[in-house]
This record gives sequence, C-alpha cells and structure tokens, in this order.
Amino acid sequence: MRTEQPKTIYLKDYQQPDYWIDETHLTFELFEDHALVHSRLALRLNADKPQKTLPPLVLDGQQLQLLSVALDDQSLAEGDYQVDTHSLSLQPTGAQFELALTTRIEPQNNTALEGLYKSGGMFCTQCEAEGFRKITYYLDRPDVMSRFTTTVIADKGDYPVLLSNGNPIAAGEHEAGRHWATWEDPFPKPAYLFALVAGDLVLIQDSFTTVSGREIDLRIYVEPENREQCGHAMDSLKRSMRWDEQVYGREYDLDIFMIVAVNDFNMGAMENKGLNIFNSSCVLAHPDTATDLAFQRVEAVVAHEYFHNWSGNRVTCRDWFQLSLKEGFTVFRDAEFSADMNSRTVKRIEDVTFLRANQFAEDAGPMAHPVRPDSFIEISNFYTLTVYEKGAEVVRMLHTLCGAEGFRKGTDLYFERHDGQAVTCDDFVKALEDANGLDFSQFKRWYSQAGTPRLEVHGHWDAATGQFSLLCKQSCPPTPGQSEKLPFVIPLRMALLDSEGQEMPLKLVSDSAARGNETVLAVTEAEQVFTFEGLTEEPLPSLLRGFSAPVKLSYPYSRDDRVFLAKHDPDGFNRWEACQALAVDVMQGLVGIHQAGRPLLADQRLIEVYRSLLADETLDPAMVAEMLRLPSEAYLVELAEVADVEAIHLVRETLRRELALALRSEMLMRWRQLNIAEPYSAEAAAMARRSLKNTLLGYLMIEAGDDMLAACVRQFVEANNMTDRQAALVALVNSPFEEAKQAALAQFAERWQGYPLVMDQWFSVQATCGLPGALERVEALMQHPAFNLRNPNKVRALIGAFANQNLVGFHRADGAGYRFLAERIIELNALNPQIASRLTTPLTRWRKFDSARQGLMRAELERIMALEGLSPDVYEVVSKSLA
Ligand code: PHE
Ligand code: ZN
Repeated sequence: MRTEQPKTIYLKDYQQPDYWIDETHLTFELFEDHALVHSRLALRLNADKPQKTLPPLVLDGQQLQLLSVALDDQSLAEGDYQVDTHSLSLQPTGAQFELALTTRIEPQNNTALEGLYKSGGMFCTQCEAEGFRKITYYLDRPDVMSRFTTTVIADKGDYPVLLSNGNPIAAGEHEAGRHWATWEDPFPKPAYLFALVAGDLVLIQDSFTTVSGREIDLRIYVEPENREQCGHAMDSLKRSMRWDEQVYGREYDLDIFMIVAVNDFNMGAMENKGLNIFNSSCVLAHPDTATDLAFQRVEAVVAHEYFHNWSGNRVTCRDWFQLSLKEGFTVFRDAEFSADMNSRTVKRIEDVTFLRANQFAEDAGPMAHPVRPDSFIEISNFYTLTVYEKGAEVVRMLHTLCGAEGFRKGTDLYFERHDGQAVTCDDFVKALEDANGLDFSQFKRWYSQAGTPRLEVHGHWDAATGQFSLLCKQSCPPTPGQSEKLPFVIPLRMALLDSEGQEMPLKLVSDSAARGNETVLAVTEAEQVFTFEGLTEEPLPSLLRGFSAPVKLSYPYSRDDRVFLAKHDPDGFNRWEACQALAVDVMQGLVGIHQAGRPLLADQRLIEVYRSLLADETLDPAMVAEMLRLPSEAYLVELAEVADVEAIHLVRETLRRELALALRSEMLMRWRQLNIAEPYSAEAAAMARRSLKNTLLGYLMIEAGDDMLAACVRQFVEANNMTDRQAALVALVNSPFEEAKQAALAQFAERWQGYPLVMDQWFSVQATCGLPGALERVEALMQHPAFNLRNPNKVRALIGAFANQNLVGFHRADGAGYRFLAERIIELNALNPQIASRLTTPLTRWRKFDSARQGLMRAELERIMALEGLSPDVYEVVSKSLA
C-alpha cells in the first residue's frame, strides 16, 4: 500500500501568491548524463495581500538536486533554507530581493516526459501543467507571470539548434566544442508556457505578413528525415494566422513563431510562447504516409496551438480549475476554423459523434466533473474531454446566445480587459455579458454542474386552433458529489417541417414578432411549454439542430418520422442525426431481439434510406459517407443501461452484412464511379470522394468474391496515397482472406518500418480488429521491434486502441483483456504516470457491464490500487472509480 495519501486540492482554497516573480533568468548547461539549471529570480512581495510580517517564500520543486542557493548574492548555508520532496522554503528579509539557484537534473532518465527530457537525440521540455517544478524551484502556478530570459549551452555537434521562447538575442561559442544561445521573451508568462529545445534539427521556413504589415518569421523544426512532411503544417499555420485576424481581430505579437516536432510526447501539442512543441503525429503529413484524417488533425492542432497565443497565453488561467477558460474556448475556436476551411456540417458531425461516444461516457462515469472542476488530486488527470470538448460546447452555446456579432464584441472586450492577466471562467462570461447586456448567471451552471442533461420533448397538435406546442422537460442525473442539479439554460435550435419537408414560419404565441423559419428557444425551466401558432397543418419538429446543446434529446419520433427527416430535413446536420437515430433505434431493437433468441432481420426502412442516399448524387459524398456509417459500438455502450457486449458487436456486424447484401448493386455502382485512377489531390472534394469510396469498400468487402478481393488488393498495392492504402488494409485485416491479409500486413511493415507514425497505424489497424484472437495478436505485437512502451504514440496505437476500440476483444468474457491492460498500467505507472492514468479509463467504466465483467474489472482495479509506489495520477483515477 501507499505510504502517503495524495492531497486533494480545492478551488475554494484559492489564494493569491505571497510573492511575484518579475524576472526569470535561466541558464541551462546540457550534458549527456545530467543538466545544470542556473536560475536568477527577481522577486517582490505581493502588496495586495495584507500580511503583518514577511511570509516565508515556498517554491515548488520535485525530483531536483539543489546545488546552491543565494539570496541577494549571499550564498545560503544549508540551515538557512528547508528542502523537502515538494518544495524549497526560506525566509526573505526584504520586500524585494533576488534569488539565485542551481539545480541538477537528469533529462536522460526522465521517462515521464514532463519537465526537461530527451526524445531520441534531442532535449525538449513539457511544463504544462506542473512540469516546470521538475526543472528548477519556482512559483509554479499560472497566476505568477514573469519575463523570461533563457540561455542554453550544449555541444555544438550534437545540438546545433538551441531554442527557447521569444526572440533570439545573442549566441556564441564556448571552449570544447560547446556553443550557446540566449532568448528573450518580452511577454510576461507563467512557467507552464516555458520551453526549451536543443537538437540536430532541420528548418522549414516561411513568412507571414500581419494585418498591420509586420513580417513574421515562421519556422518548423524537425529531424532531417521528416523535412518533406512539413508543408501542410506550414500552410495550416498561415491560414490560422489569417483567420484569427479576420474572425477575432487577433494579430500575432512576436517576430518569430516556431514549431518543433518531437516523437515522444504525452499529448497532441503544447502552446509554449513563440515555441510550440508538437507530437510529431500532429505536425508531419505527407500524402504517402498520412491519411486524410491525419491531415485534418494536423490542420486542427496547428490552429489550436496558434490560437492559444491569445486564448491562453496573452490571457491565461488564474489557477488550474479554470483550465477550460483556455481549452474550451480554444477548441471552439479551432473547430470553427476547421468548419470554415472544410465542410462545416461534416466537421460538426465528426465532433458530435466523438463527444457523444466519449465525453458523455466520462460524464456518466466515476470521473465525471464539471467543466470547471472544484477539486482534484492530480491536475494532469483533468485534461479531459469534459474540460476540452464539453467546455467548447459551452462556449458554442454562449456564441449561439450572443449571436456571432455579439460574441465578437464580447471577446474583444475580454481580450482588451484582461490582456496580460491570469483570469477565471467568470471573467470570460462577464465580458460577454457586459458587451451584450445579457445575464448569464443561470447559464453558468454549465461550468459548475457535471453530468449530461436529458431533454425530453413532446409535441402537441391542436388542429382546431392551428397551434403546436413543444413540452420540454429537463433533468440531469446525479454525478459524484452532486446529487441534485438545478435547471440549465439549453439553447434549442429548431424548425417545424410541413408534410413536404418545408420549413414553416414560426410565430410563438408569447412573442409579438414572428421568428422566421428557424429559431433558438431558450429552455430554462425544469418544465416549459412553447406554443407556435398560425400553422396550417400538423408539423414535424426538427430539434436541436447542429446539436445546439450537449444534451441527450428525446422526442417520440416513429421510425417513419426519422425516415422522413433523414430524407427531407433541410438542415444537413439533422438529416444525418435522423439517420443515426434511426440506426440506433434499429440496433437497440435488434439487441433485444437477439437477447430473446430470435433471428436478426434488418428494418427495411433503414435499407431504403441508405438506398436513396446512394442514389442522390447531389449530396456531398462526405455526407453520404457519414450517413452510411453505423453508430459505433462505443456509442451503443454509452446509450445502454447495461451493455451486452456480444450482442452489440453481433448486431452491428449483422446489420452491416444485411446492408451490404441488400444494397450490393447500388454500392458497387457508386464505388465504380468513384474508383477511378486520379492524380492525388488534397482538396476537400477529393477527400470527400475518398471517404465515400472507402466506406463503400468496407461494405463491399463483406462476403466479397474474388473480383472484389482482387480490387481491394490492387488498391492496397497501387494506391497513390495513404488514405486509400490504409482503407484497403483495414478491409483486408477485417476480412476472412487470411493469405491476402498476412501478405498485406507484411508488405506494409516492410515498406514503412522506418516511419514510426505509419507503423502506429499498422498497430492500430490490428489492435481494433474485432475478429477472434485479438488479445493474442496484441500481445504478440508488443514484441514487435517497432513497438516501444516508452513511446506514448505506440502505447496509444496498440494498447489504447485495443482497450478503447475493440469492444469484444477487450471485454473477453474470461477477463484476460482486463488483466492485460492492468499489467500494462502497472508497468507504465513506473515509467509514465500520465499515460498510465489515461490508459485506465476503459476499466473505470465497469458499471456499464454485466455482473461477471464488473467483478473482473473491479478485481483489476483493486490489484492496481494495492500497488506499492502507485503514482498520484493512477491513484486518483482508480480510487475514484472504486468509490
Ligand atoms: N495545452 C495543450 C493543448 O491543449 C495540451 C497539453 C496539456 C499538452 C498538458 C501537454 C501537457 O493545446
Ligand atoms: Zn489547448
């Protein structure tokens, strides 16, 4: 058992710091077996905090070897300060003073990838949230903002490139083949935005002229072999810079903006001031090696990190409970950017699909927490789908309620008011309120109440008066620490459709003016009625258009209603939604039929909807692909009270087969039209065609004949891009054609062994294959030379993909999948606690499954809980899920 119980930290305990750090001067001496960090801090008493005597200075620090301490140039003896495992304390003698420290660290042994560490041959840092304290003693909290000057000294041959935040101001040579560079960042920043890189890197350079005519030097640094894979990231960066000027009026502020790609990185990327550090998976993209999805991810992440320069860096968070202040807002910003660059509807469909399968599950599980949590043990555990994705939905609702123009007025005020400050979610909402004369006090419950609200709507038609009423009832299930919830403000975007599918003019009885053909109702009460008048026939409502609020909507639609909406709703998003809901309804019905031991037959209406989609050449092919994709197993698990693993898998596979057989000729025809040799293009239209073509390939490979198999193999061999090649590989791996499958896998590994990101795809395709023997295959792949437990991308690609996306494989009835995962978590707990903790998520969902599986999953959690040396990261997740 653990000796020391990790401490819980509460938002209500927030206090300003006792001291500020006006200036931070750092010098790093980098060596192969250690690094020396010299820091000189200009400190000042926080005069806003009334205190009688000078409080002690308590600096955060972990895993540091303290070599020297000097106060105002007087070196201190060991009794003059106290050091424990988490801090350095000393007693200042004046209100303003300078502290000089030297610490020794070992980046080469840092497998947690937090602080200063080595990734391959380069040194790099990751300081968010609390990694800076693993570099030197500091006030490592986001409300302490300081001006940084950084000097890096390293061997010139091995580390020709030396980078840090801000502008380069000096460089030179030292004796013994060493050299140095000094960087100065003029913008005060918290330590979590500090970054340093030293390595043998090549540079891709471009430039951007800002609205006010300033020329910005843009640089992407990568290892030499990746030089050809940076063009897309650079283009995305320039588009992001322009978009932020146009849509938010935000101009870049330094003269240089740098991105560095590293292979070993816990997250996607990091917005360090002027020096973004990226997981290479979120920068590198070339048609030969990256799929269209990967291209879109690179575009989105580059934009996300760039947008942080204003929403995060210029205006940052007061404390880590406010994380969604920067993350929710920035995810909303990057989603809108992607929507503007690509298909808005498809982007929304992708995001909603992801949210409902994953964030809804988090909100229903033991780690459920509000968008602004009120306590945590380990902040790294709160970089969650709730803080990011639900946080973005909350900002989206604010955007909806203010309107685009009002929202812009609000963000202008926010940036103007708080530039250079560390603020709270309340400050953000206040700026929107003040700029628009609105009152969001009730709305703010979205920040403080966890759980996914239910919105139950019924319609009532009164033919005599021509009135149609929507009866809305909202509720929210209890979540840990919150048994009762107050009503939310739910923006309900909607329209009423006539029997032709046309939108009817909307006039609420309670309004004086009409509302056009589409409106946003604000549902604010637990029960509320909206009555429309002047209708000539009974309407069919189209509700929650564009998923205008992150709620679970129910309306007693019949399957025929859904068919109608899937074919006729003028709103593209809701057409897709009707199609999804129909498929969900059919699949849930089939699960019941299977459990009753009756044969599974597909509802003809779903087949007919798909038939009409396949015939409609006016639709965006990417939309058709989205609509043809059945709801995921993970989403069906989320929707179920108790998920029947085998039934869900069987039903989905059976329905896919039924659809493939019933629509074979339509699918073949459409596929043949799309399957023409064309030069590769990264244009949206070409991506859309590939998306539909490969979705169809997936269906056509079910019970495929020799011709289809040959076509699939041909696509695998001859494809001029990774999207097509990977789709063919997926189809083969999930097919019964053992020989073709093994040949393709071997060929792929042979061809791409030198490309770690491509090998990640190779691992994932196999890890997610639902055919029998999955666990054995994953265990064997752990021995593959390309696998490495210390590389987070590899862990995610193989172990994460298996546990999260292979329902039947992971949830094997004998519990071997759980045991396998627990063993990996235990290994990773010692190497990389953040990754270990994230990997625990699937086990935390034990309440969703039958009692036998519950017992097996809990047993593994208990085994982990009993581990000696359990990290606070894993401890928090496991203890909360067993509570
Ligand atoms: N702040 C980063 C982002 O969302 C994510 C991150 C968090 C990266 C913590 C590393 C560590 O852009
Ligand atoms: Zn972010």
